[in-house]
Amino acid sequence: MDSANKIWAVAQEEEYRCWKMIEPEMRNEIYWDLKRKFWRLVFEKLDITELISSIPAVSGRKKIVILDLGCGPSGALIELPFYICSIVRERCEYIGLDPLMDKYLEISTKLRKLPVRWVKGCAERLGDYVNKVHLLLSFNAIDHTYDIQRVIRQICNNLSQGGIAIVSSNCHTSRLTAYLMVSSEASFVSFY
Ligand SMILES: C[S@@+](CC[C@H](N)C(=O)[O-])C[C@H]1O[C@@H](n2cnc3c(N)ncnc32)[C@H](O)[C@@H]1O
Repeated sequence: MDSANKIWAVAQEEEYRCWKMIEPEMRNEIYWDLKRKFWRLVFEKLDITELISSIPAVSGRKKIVILDLGCGPSGALIELPFYICSIVRERCEYIGLDPLMDKYLEISTKLRKLPVRWVKGCAERLGDYVNKVHLLLSFNAIDHTYDIQRVIRQICNNLSQGGIAIVSSNCHTSRLTAYLMVSSEASFVSFY
C-alpha cells in the first residue's frame, strides 16, 4: 500500500467511527425525516427533475441508471427514488457505491428496504458501468477518495452520451486548505 492509500485507509477508519457514533440517532425516525427533508431541499435547489428530463435517454424507454458515488449511509438515494416523477421512477436503476457499504448496511438496516442496489467499492474502479450511467451523483465524497484525478476520469468514462454528473464537495476558505487544493492539482475540478 503506498502512502496515499495508507492515509486514505486511516481517514476511512475515522469516517466509519463518525458514522458509528450516530448509529443510535439513526435508529430514530426523526433522523431519517430530517435527512430526507435535507435531500429534498438539495434536489429543489439543483432543479433535479428538470436536469433528469434533459438527459436524452429519459425520452426513450430504456432503463435509466442513477449512480451515487460515495453514497454514505444516509445519502441522496434515501430520498431520490421517491422524489422523482413517477413516470421515470419505475424505469430507474439506483446504485449506491461506497467502500464502507458493508458496514453501512450493518449500521442502518433501513437501507436494505429501499429500491437501491448497494455496492461496496471505490470510485477509482468503476469498470462495470462504462458509458452506462445517465445520472451520476457524488455529494461530499470526491475529496475523500485516494486518487481524485482517476475518479474524475472514471466519471467521464462511465457517463452515457448526454449523461449528467452532479459533483459537490465541501469548500473551506482557510489558507491551508486552499494551498493543499492547489498543490494536489485538483484545482480543475468544478466544485459548487
Ligand atoms: C462525508 S461522506 C458523504 C456521504 C454521502 N455522499 C452524503 O452526502 O451523506 C464521504 C463518503 O465518501 C466515501 N469514500 C471514501 N473514499 C471513497 C472512494 N475511493 N470511492 C468512493 N467513495 C469513497 C466514504 O466512505 C464516505 O462514505
